[in-house]
Amino acid sequence: MHRAPRPTAGAPREGGLPTLRGSRVHLRHLTTDDVDDLHAIFSDPEVARFLAIRCQTSREMTEEFLAGIHEGFHTRTLFQWGIESGGRIVGTTTLGGLDWDNRRAEIGFALARTAWGRGLMLDALAAVLDHAFGELGLHRIEADVDPRNAPSLRVLEKLGFRREGYLRERYIKDGDIQDSVIFGLLRSDRPV
Ligand SMILES: CC(C)(COP(=O)(O)OP(=O)(O)OC[C@H]1O[C@@H](n2cnc3c(N)ncnc32)[C@H](O)[C@@H]1OP(=O)(O)O)[C@@H](O)C(=O)NCCC(=O)NCCS
Repeated sequence: MHRAPRPTAGAPREGGLPTLRGSRVHLRHLTTDDVDDLHAIFSDPEVARFLAIRCQTSREMTEEFLAGIHEGFHTRTLFQWGIESGGRIVGTTTLGGLDWDNRRAEIGFALARTAWGRGLMLDALAAVLDHAFGELGLHRIEADVDPRNAPSLRVLEKLGFRREGYLRERYIKDGDIQDSVIFGLLRSDRPV
C-alpha cells in the first residue's frame, strides 16, 4: 500500500537542518555559498561512479542538485547534510526516501577524493545515525551499495549494518550494469 510521506514531530519544520557534531567533522545545512565545494566533489567521476546521481559536468548541474536538496528538505522527503572539515564542505550524507509512516530512510554518502582514507565518513555517519534514531525517531535505515564499492561496504559493516539481500543487475549507469547489496540497520541493532 502506498501512502504519501508525512513529517513527524521529529522532523525539523523551519529554517534548515540542525547542525550535527561528530568528533572530527560537523554536518550542516548546505547553502548557495557551498556550490563550488559541492561541484568539486560531484564532478569527480571516481566519486560519482557508484552514486544514484550523474557526474556533475557543469556548475549549473550542481546548482540544480542543490535546489533539489532544498526542495527535499522543504517536502521532508530528503535530508542532505554537508560535511564540513577545515572550513570547507568535503562531502555529504543523506537520509533519502524518508518514509515517516514506516519510520524508515535510505542512507547515502560521498566524500571528495582528497578526503578519502581518513575515517571521516565513519565519524559523519555515526552522527547522522544518532540523529536519525534519536531526534527523528526513525526505526530502520537502509543502504544500497554496489558490491565492488569496497570502502562503502566496509564503512556500513563497521557501523553495524547487516547484509539483507543481493539484487542482480539493478542499475545501468553510463553503460555499466551494477548489482546491489541491500543493507539494513534497526534501532534495536544498536548498543544502548
Ligand atoms: C565510501 C567513502 C565515503 C568512504 O569514506 P572514507 O572516509 O574514505 O572511508 P575510510 O577511510 O574509513 O575507509 C573505509 C574502509 O574501507 C577500506 N578500504 C578503502 N579502500 C578499500 C579497497 N579498495 N578495498 C578494500 N577496502 C578498502 C579502508 O581500509 C577502511 O577500512 P578499515 O577502517 O577497516 O581500514 C568514500 O570512499 C567515497 O566517497 N566514495 C565515493 C562515493 C560512494 O561510493 N558513496 C557510497 C555510495 S552507496
